[in-house]
Amino acid sequence: MNVQFRRTLLDYATRPYRSAGLFAYKFAEGKLKSDPAFFGLLENGLLPNAERLIDLGCGQGLLASWLLEARKLHECGNWPPHWPPAPKINHIWGLELMQKDVDRARAALGDSAQFYQGDIRSADYGKADVAVVLDVLHYISYEAQEEVLKRIWAALPPGGTFITRVGDAAGGLPFYYSNWVDRTIFFLRGHRLNRIYCRTLDEWLEVLRSTGFEVRPLAMHKGTPFRNVMLIAKKTGE
Ligand SMILES: C[S@@+](CC[C@H](N)C(=O)[O-])C[C@H]1O[C@@H](n2cnc3c(N)ncnc32)[C@H](O)[C@@H]1O
Repeated sequence: MNVQFRRTLLDYATRPYRSAGLFAYKFAEGKLKSDPAFFGLLENGLLPNAERLIDLGCGQGLLASWLLEARKLHECGNWPPHWPPAPKINHIWGLELMQKDVDRARAALGDSAQFYQGDIRSADYGKADVAVVLDVLHYISYEAQEEVLKRIWAALPPGGTFITRVGDAAGGLPFYYSNWVDRTIFFLRGHRLNRIYCRTLDEWLEVLRSTGFEVRPLAMHKGTPFRNVMLIAKKTGE
């Protein structure tokens, strides 16, 4: 059941990208299959039900496609019985620097989620119950990271959830390898290769706690040669 279900979810979440071109489709297929973050979010029940989820640095909107299809499968009774329920999220809003990715996200998902071109360092996030930032923070300076974390905190209600995946700069060779792969893909997708701004896991935990989040780490690199960690944070009271 589990293997069959995984194939079905991968197929359903990839399918919308057929209308966004071959690159978008192949990229979606490869990334959703090989990146443990997508199944990890569901298997570990990391995302609660929400009225509005913001995905900052959303790329071509893979997370939105994943969550929308997961919920549909859950609602029609095709869901692994030992998994937590798929989160019910009414509005998914993605913000992305690259217009090409925004176009691909819109072509694939139409009106089922909203995508905007903008810079997470300056765009208005509005309010949200859940914020997700997957593999993005290391592209912006340390000061900008801290500013973005404060603005995410301000966008969430007390008890709101913030999930981010980061590399652990203390992770040795796997960390350097994941940076190399990340920078290569970043370059192939049309970005300039600028400096990246990494922190050790302890430093990430410290900066999140000093922003006002309770946070716990969860390794999120199973089956890959990388050293990535999901940080699951809750906004504590004001
Ligand atoms: C490694 S990709 C991850 C994409 C997506 N989060 C995912 O997991 O599929 C990083 C993304 O962050 C975007 N990005 C980098 N800096 C950004 C910024 N300052 N504002 C908005 N998006 C940014 C990049 O354009 C790229 O799409």
